Amino acid sequence: MTAIIFPQTTTYSYQQAHKSALKVNWRVEDILNGDRRIDFTKRFMPETLARVNDIPFLSSYEKLKLNQIRGNSYLHIFSLVEECIVPTVIDHIHHLGSSDWVAVQALLHFAEEEGKHIRLFRGFAEEFECGFGSRCETIGPVQEIADLVLQHHPLSVILMILYVEWMTQRHYLESVRDNYLETLDVQFCSLLRHHWLEEAQHTALDTLMVEKVAADLDAAGIAAGVEDFFRLIEFLNQGLMTQVQLDIESLTHATGHAYTEAERQTIQAVQERAYRWTFIGSGLVHSHFVKTFSKISPTNCDRLMAIARAHSYAANWGSTADGENGE
Ligand SMILES: [Fe+2]
Ligand SMILES: [Fe+2]
Repeated sequence: MTAIIFPQTTTYSYQQAHKSALKVNWRVEDILNGDRRIDFTKRFMPETLARVNDIPFLSSYEKLKLNQIRGNSYLHIFSLVEECIVPTVIDHIHHLGSSDWVAVQALLHFAEEEGKHIRLFRGFAEEFECGFGSRCETIGPVQEIADLVLQHHPLSVILMILYVEWMTQRHYLESVRDNYLETLDVQFCSLLRHHWLEEAQHTALDTLMVEKVAADLDAAGIAAGVEDFFRLIEFLNQGLMTQVQLDIESLTHATGHAYTEAERQTIQAVQERAYRWTFIGSGLVHSHFVKTFSKISPTNCDRLMAIARAHSYAANWGSTADGENGE
């Protein structure tokens, strides 16, 4: 196989990412088991992602419940992605072998942090289940979905991880950190903040992994990986659309409101667009993801943008993000 010449112009380094990661040092127990608890009188999600206000016939109470259902599924879906990240990073460590111990140490720390995030999100889900008042189903089983994702091309999987990790930062920086207009639940915001604090290092490491995987492929291998990335987005989209159906059932149980068929269709239409933007569109257009993708597959950039546009929520389309960690 002849490897193509891949321009490695990134300024990221394993050493710097690991050094920055060590400065962030929170424990799950400090966040979940302190005095602070979820306040179920508050919304969890910013409206730019939840889009409950765009469903005109819902009462304030119903909007609150749907927003909280969205908060629960939001963390569930991120924890699902994290279940894919840990084995991907471990595989990459195997791939590197003993060629770069600085990289190995940084990547091991990365995997450990994602394990911590999974515990954090599961802890939240347990508290949510106890306090919400009715059961909310989420897509799964998580391990089966993760296994299906991991059957995809390695370049495809790591590209998905890269855009999702940039996306989490964008959500926090643009919609949560300085959101003074909405009084979101303090505990939920704290959880997103702590997660975000570790994401900047992750995106640096993801970028380095993408570059390494791409550098070891020939042109046909990269084309196959990128093609599979587009298939993986469609797979993710199918899961999101299933989650919308589960959310509508959860809302019905939580409120005791028997929605008419027309009302269900309206909720479904609004929420499908909201989910597509939250988990796909807002990540694919992130400027740092586009930059990395365009180096790997410049001829597919227009296609990437077309897919992003198809997963947009009209009011959000066109905005990109440069968000980096920097507290
Ligand atoms: Fe994470
Ligand atoms: Fe992460």
